[in-house]
Amino acid sequence: MSAHDITLHINGKRHDCRVEARTLLVHLLREKLGLTGTHVGCDTTQCGACTISLDDRAVKSCTILAVQADGCDIVTIEGMAGENGELHAIQEAFSLEHGLQCGFCTPGMVMSTRQLLARYPDAEVDEIRHQLEGNICRCTGYHNIIKAVQRAAAQARSSADGREPAVTKHAAPYPTDLHQRRHHGS
Ligand code: FES
Ligand code: FES
Repeated sequence: MSAHDITLHINGKRHDCRVEARTLLVHLLREKLGLTGTHVGCDTTQCGACTISLDDRAVKSCTILAVQADGCDIVTIEGMAGENGELHAIQEAFSLEHGLQCGFCTPGMVMSTRQLLARYPDAEVDEIRHQLEGNICRCTGYHNIIKAVQRAAAQARSSADGREPAVTKHAAPYPTDLHQRRHHGS
């Protein structure tokens, strides 16, 4: 099997990797780079537990080869929290609204929500449900996940308005994302 040298920028850090052509991105993240917050919940590209951000698009990392991500900017769930471990506003919203039980789907839900709020900051319930169709949760019945997304959206809007965050003082500013990390040179 041929090997390929690729470079990925993950959560603000450069990684030079040698991978086989057949290596899935999710396997590179989990097994070689130790980023095990990205989960594998199926082998049929249905569950969304493996969702990451690839060049600011939510992507199921089990559906893409690692070589296809060469040169890309990736954010995984490990990159969502602040530098001192403070939760991102989306993570805090999931916690406060009980949008998780076993937590297996949660990293993928959070990463999909990141894109959802970037694209549809005023999304109503129907749009939220539609945007999260690619993420399956076996525990919650989705109701509290929707509430968590709404809470995170409200937080994002109040931050954008320059008002005191409505949700919590402890949440990381929204969005704690790659652009901010780049901007601050980390
Ligand atoms: S592991 Fe289920 S969609 Fe990727
Ligand atoms: S919280 Fe268990 S699968 Fe979603």
